[in-house]
Amino acid sequence: MNIAVLGAQWGDEGKGKIVDLLTPHFSIVARYQGGHNAGHTVYANGRKFVLRLLPSGILHEGVTCVIGNGVVVDPQALFAEIDEISAAGIVVGDRLVISDKAHLILPYHRELDLLSEARRGERKIGTTSRGIGPAYEDKIARRGVRVGDLANPGSLRDAVEHNVAARNRIIGDSVMDARVVLDDLARAWQRMRPWVADVSLFLDRARTDGRAIMFEGAQGTLLDIDHGTYPYVTSSNATIGGVCTGLGVGPRAIDGVLGAAKAYTTRVGEGPLPTELTGEMGNRLRESGQEFGAVTGRPRRCGWYDAVAVRYAVRVNGLDGLALTKLDVLDGLPELQVCTAYRCRGSVLHEMPGELAHLTACEPVYETLPGWTAPTRGVREFKRLPAEARRYVARLEEVTGVPAAIISTGSAREDTIVREDSVAGRWFAR
Ligand code: IMP
Repeated sequence: MNIAVLGAQWGDEGKGKIVDLLTPHFSIVARYQGGHNAGHTVYANGRKFVLRLLPSGILHEGVTCVIGNGVVVDPQALFAEIDEISAAGIVVGDRLVISDKAHLILPYHRELDLLSEARRGERKIGTTSRGIGPAYEDKIARRGVRVGDLANPGSLRDAVEHNVAARNRIIGDSVMDARVVLDDLARAWQRMRPWVADVSLFLDRARTDGRAIMFEGAQGTLLDIDHGTYPYVTSSNATIGGVCTGLGVGPRAIDGVLGAAKAYTTRVGEGPLPTELTGEMGNRLRESGQEFGAVTGRPRRCGWYDAVAVRYAVRVNGLDGLALTKLDVLDGLPELQVCTAYRCRGSVLHEMPGELAHLTACEPVYETLPGWTAPTRGVREFKRLPAEARRYVARLEEVTGVPAAIISTGSAREDTIVREDSVAGRWFAR
């Protein structure tokens, strides 16, 4: 069975842990979009790993990890990550496959990201400054440089010289030398070359050989370039369609879709967040949930669970179930609020509005549920959760419309409840 695991909120839902937990059921883990703006935190063998570009399956011996054409690759960031995990004793060897059609993030993309944010002033997106947007801009404008281009020095030189000249016209107060960029790329190619392949063909053959594939999303549904809270989004398709376009597989290659969602809501960067809590409760969630960006260290904005947003993710992605994470962060709170609808311009909305101004004007309609005093942290069986926590999960399932197939109660792999009686839980029943 091939399963997609993707974010059902604004990113940082804990996908890294879920992908890592499920990896033993798969032979291949394939990333289909985003770049090193992602930060997938995984605790394994008593150590903390933050994976940015490498699929989270890389920590498992014998699992092949794929970086699809939909991903934007910064070669230096990739090598730094490989060096980091190699130093921790994890052997990458031939377990990595990188699409020859993946676009590269080059030094001028990082500069242009910073410049574009500075020029937007108060309308800034709050990007991760990794050059993600400008690299995708070049891709769509058909002037991008792809991994496979590194094998053709002549056309590579033309493309890089053209792009660097454009950069020099935009950033007039400093000049970038195309030769330096080309020298770095020549070195990068030497190292990257053994991993580069036709990913679509690789995955097709893998499927024919009966190898199970997990498709790993980065960011989340509400950060999707098309379906997110545009323009406060990332520049790729984090939603399910990205699997097909970002890896070159057909829709029937995907047998099931699991959405990761926190038991509350967070967002990093600018843009609307209807359930945001700015006062003491927001601080409480941020501190106990350790809600600081894995890549940038920025404090995340925190709020109550937004069922309107997650229901939207269920619809856009066809989710079969949820991996509900960080339930334990709510331990000890006397009361919990769940947003079941929005109140907007005099009417009550049950669906996510598409227009930014509309969404910005929305106020959450809350339902109050009792909290619990006994801890859920580390609980590994559903029936051992406090009754109020079970009730909270059941209510989230009702208002979201899909079962919580997996519930995470702590950062370690083992601190997880897999509900084998639910549709998605059955996929992973041992
Ligand atoms: P970019 O992807 O760096 O262009 O940033 C665009 C928006 O997406 C910003 O609001 C970022 O904070 C957000 N973003 C990008 N990657 C992640 C992620 O992995 N988790 C959460 N937010 C992200």
